[in-house]
Amino acid sequence: MTCREGCRKFYVFSRNWRKVKPMKERTLSIIKPDGVAKGLIGEVLNRFEHAGFQVVAMKMVHMSKKQAEGFYAVHRERPFFESVTDFMSSGPSVVMVLEAENVISRNRELMGATNYKEAAEGTIRREFAMDIEKNVVHGSDSPETAAFEIGYFFNALELVRL
Ligand code: CMP
Repeated sequence: MTCREGCRKFYVFSRNWRKVKPMKERTLSIIKPDGVAKGLIGEVLNRFEHAGFQVVAMKMVHMSKKQAEGFYAVHRERPFFESVTDFMSSGPSVVMVLEAENVISRNRELMGATNYKEAAEGTIRREFAMDIEKNVVHGSDSPETAAFEIGYFFNALELVRL
């Protein structure tokens, strides 16, 4: 299987170049405790739906400190680990799985840079984040991370097949 550059949509072609179906990707998105506390659930969901992302799973969770540590295990050695896991277990979050073509990079564009001061105008973090930690949203940064993060919160039965 390969993809032909220059096509308007990102289609997968079979060996004889017959169009098969668009390539879909999934990502984990979290509306963090600061986003929920500020009443931004609707605002963030609106942006996702407007971008054409489909929500294939969603729930509200209040992570324990241990659950937050497990989720951010990759950052265990970083200086902000204690603080970010305290913050992520400080209140409810909304966790969801989004599906669309190239959704991982497109979601990261919508969110903006981790540090809201470096985020582009019009992005979620630029408009609503308070600091580098309380930055409203989280999104997976690669297909491998997405697979781990989706599996951390959802089992196969909870993921709707569209
Ligand atoms: P997120 O995209 O969820 O990934 C790790 C989180 O750690 C990040 O967003 C921030 O909420 C938080 N964080 C706090 N300080 C930093 C930092 N200096 N660099 C990166 N992430 C940070």
